[in-house]
Amino acid sequence: MKVLLIGNGGREHALAWKLRQSPRVTKLYCAPGNGGISREAECVPADLKSLEAIVALATQLEPDLTVVGPELPLQLGIVDEFTRRGWPIFGPTKAAAQLETSKSFAKEFMQRHRIPTSHYAICDSADEVKEALGRFSTPVVVKADGLAAGKGVVICKTKDEAAAVAAEMLTGKMLGEAGTRVVIEECLKGDELSFLVLSDGERVAPLVAAQDHKRVGDGDTGPNTGGMGAYSIPQLLDEQMTNWLLQHIARPVVAGMKAGGMEYKGILYCGLMMTARGPMVLEFNCRFGDPETQPIMMRLDSDLLEAIEASIEGRVSDGDFRWSPEASVCVVMASGGYPGTIEVGKKISGIEEADRVDGVKVFHAGTSVRDGAFYTAGGRVLGVTARAQNLQTAVDRAYEAVGKIQFDGAHYRKDIGAHALRK
Ligand code: AMP
Ligand code: GLY
Repeated sequence: MKVLLIGNGGREHALAWKLRQSPRVTKLYCAPGNGGISREAECVPADLKSLEAIVALATQLEPDLTVVGPELPLQLGIVDEFTRRGWPIFGPTKAAAQLETSKSFAKEFMQRHRIPTSHYAICDSADEVKEALGRFSTPVVVKADGLAAGKGVVICKTKDEAAAVAAEMLTGKMLGEAGTRVVIEECLKGDELSFLVLSDGERVAPLVAAQDHKRVGDGDTGPNTGGMGAYSIPQLLDEQMTNWLLQHIARPVVAGMKAGGMEYKGILYCGLMMTARGPMVLEFNCRFGDPETQPIMMRLDSDLLEAIEASIEGRVSDGDFRWSPEASVCVVMASGGYPGTIEVGKKISGIEEADRVDGVKVFHAGTSVRDGAFYTAGGRVLGVTARAQNLQTAVDRAYEAVGKIQFDGAHYRKDIGAHALRK
């Protein structure tokens, strides 16, 4: 079976690595891929901002199945387009992907279906923001309505700050079209949890949960990033809580989308805050998380291809995944300056030595390969991921491997998983 994987991040490297383990995958393409993925798949150049270009590529490669990593092609309607042509593809349609691509859509949907989430107000002008802020206490959260690559959420200490941030978003200067509508939200407190389920439009099967580390600095300091590391352990979510989340969040979402004529197939990522009032939804993503996918795939002992086919063919069941009871952790190594301005093209050394550490797999995110050597090519460069019998050992191994890798300006968090270890 020929599989085309779309994307170029650490998430896609983990998916490629897992898909390649499927005995039924005879050929794996990745568009456009990265330096590390080129060792697992045939990388083909692609412009992910152009649906036409992706269709032309698939016309040429004739894959039996296409798996989409990032949200942008889903927002452009890649699933609608491929399905219209009768090409099997994994993920939600453009309409269903609105759960991620429009925060106001997701909020109104949650309110209609009584899915637990924070209080909110949708605003299209500075006057509406001013009026809405009167109904919130501080800190208060300001979010751009559209996709903003992790830069669309600002937690504001004062209402003046919130009004200023919202005003800047609304002019379109800060985030372009994505910010011309904003959502004001109550700020929630608690531990965050990434809870992902596989959906076939009707039934859902949970994946193991993971916890991301969004801030750039140790101890959750500094600006938000795409994610500086994540871990997955069985203790994150027991069976009782899993069932609660399925009953009160995942199943009502999938049923509500179907009732609204927007059948939701693919991965539904529920970004949760575990508050004193119970779990609440911070956001939905219509795809696998990055970096959560790296530790989640490390714990998957069954065939990813089989699960993806179950989603497409409408036969998802609890038996679709078999998980390891072990722990896994991913430490992201980023370029100097990330999440701000970065320089690329720095030579990376030590990846092979790191990969040889027991239980470790180095997933590439922003890398390129030239004459057999790897170079940095993005903000998040590598996701050094380890699996072991417990979290402490997994953390030790991941950091041992990180210690073997060098590139100019490299930085990483030293406390991935530390909060869970203290508990
Ligand atoms: P989002 O893209 O909506 O997940 O937001 C990114 C990050 O902002 C989340 O992972 C949280 O850390 C934080 N965040 C978003 N919404 C809220 C909220 N209502 N209260 C507190 N933190 C939030
Ligand atoms: N790690 C958060 C995300 O994938 O959106």
